[in-house]
Amino acid sequence: MAVGVFDSGLGGLTVLDAVTRRLPDVPFVYLGDNAHAPYGVRTHDDIFNLTCAAVERLWAEGCDLVILACNTASAAALKRMQETWIPRDKRVLGVFVPLIEALTERQWGDNSPPREVAVKHVALFATPATVASRAFQRELAFRAIGVDVEAQPCGGVVDAIEQGDEILAEALVRSHVDALKRRMPQPQAAVLGCTHYPLMEDAFKAALGPDVKVFSQANLVADSLADYLARRPEFLGRGLQSKFLTTGDPVAVSSRATQFLRRPIRFEAA
Ligand code: DGL
Repeated sequence: MAVGVFDSGLGGLTVLDAVTRRLPDVPFVYLGDNAHAPYGVRTHDDIFNLTCAAVERLWAEGCDLVILACNTASAAALKRMQETWIPRDKRVLGVFVPLIEALTERQWGDNSPPREVAVKHVALFATPATVASRAFQRELAFRAIGVDVEAQPCGGVVDAIEQGDEILAEALVRSHVDALKRRMPQPQAAVLGCTHYPLMEDAFKAALGPDVKVFSQANLVADSLADYLARRPEFLGRGLQSKFLTTGDPVAVSSRATQFLRRPIRFEAA
């Protein structure tokens, strides 16, 4: 019984931490496609092909259920995977919907028509590919009306994090928040729509100021996974062991993961 967690690189570790805290008895196999990160500047076809290859690798580890802990893959590839590629005995879930349900104060499975919600001005920070997909606005429109979304593609931030350059990542966060605020001076809520960004959450909060409620995904995804497994325990999978796999250099990736999460993490070659 193991569940797979996939990200283009280190960002999904923020989700992995939350799901491990929420479901301490479930083994998780993490796969970071660090050799091909960042995904956020790739084409949708490229993201689809890389994500399918990674998910197959996790299936081979006995993970019948895989979480795409990557907004870029969830936004650019998941719908196509679900429609054309995933066999009936496997499941792949994304990270977008739990976040939008939280923002729109909905419970899982509430398919009632879109309605007015408390929050009216939302800043979305995400990768260029996620912003270009407009998947966030599409999912939001199914559930809420009258919400103004201003999206900021945060070029460079994932690259800086993957390279272990915290100072550059912080400077880029400040400049992306400034750019967003020029277009939407007073957002009520900000969505960190990339699983790498919680690693820079303090920098986002400092730049946004105390009046902006920051939504990040990890705990929301953990709650929704716990709920899913309670309903569908057969998708716990055959694997038994937790591990960290990377398509990149395991030594370099382990050291950057340890730096960002401030606890030792050891990756193996995928
Ligand atoms: N962490 C990912 C996301 O949530 C991917 C970032 C990237 O590879 O560009 O979007």
